[in-house]
Amino acid sequence: MFRLVISDIKAKQRLYSQYGASCSFFRALLTDGTSANVLYRLQEWLSGLGLAPLALLPHTLNKWFNGCVIGVKARFGEGFVLIHPVGVVINSSVRGGREVWIESGVVIGDNRGRSPELGHGVFVGSGAKIIGGVRIEDGARVGANAVVTKDVGRGVTVVGIPARPVHEGARAP
Ligand SMILES: CC(C)(COP(=O)(O)OP(=O)(O)OC[C@H]1O[C@@H](n2cnc3c(N)ncnc32)[C@H](O)[C@@H]1OP(=O)(O)O)[C@@H](O)C(=O)NCCC(=O)NCCS
Repeated sequence: MFRLVISDIKAKQRLYSQYGASCSFFRALLTDGTSANVLYRLQEWLSGLGLAPLALLPHTLNKWFNGCVIGVKARFGEGFVLIHPVGVVINSSVRGGREVWIESGVVIGDNRGRSPELGHGVFVGSGAKIIGGVRIEDGARVGANAVVTKDVGRGVTVVGIPARPVHEGARAP
């Protein structure tokens, strides 16, 4: 669990460093979203040990203190970043790869009993909704407020409602 928390904070360091100024580990630790990341990793660890009822404690604290609801069985690889956790809702069946970065108000949820799967290096912009059994491939970016109901290809950036590609082969976030 600690290894994953460290990887998440280091990923946040990389994210903030992209905006110009370098960001120390300590500074990344103090940015908002870190407590949500830690609570998420704690619930994931407890649920992985088969202690789902106990995992509801960090789950509930995350809801109360960060306005962030992540199902106890949702799984993300290392470098998962909740940039601003407020309004984030993620279904328990969602699976994400490494370096998935999520802005505020993002919903990744079930539709007709199926949930999204996200690859590695996926960025999801503020307010975006990804619903149903769609696959978001490695390096894809979902623009702010987009509604994604179809698969998004590798490295593709999508925007709008319904989401449509703006760049083919765009860079990872
Ligand atoms: C989708 C996104 C990643 C694309 O960034 P980019 O590759 O630099 O794309 P550009 O800014 O060159 O925009 C490309 C086109 O898409 C449009 N576009 C960009 N983002 C859009 C969005 N969220 N919704 C609708 N259209 C969008 C632009 O207007 C532009 O259209 P044009 O070609 O007709 O002029 C970015 O615009 C975005 O939405 N980021 C989310 C940021 C965020 O959540 N911030 C919250 C901080 S708290």
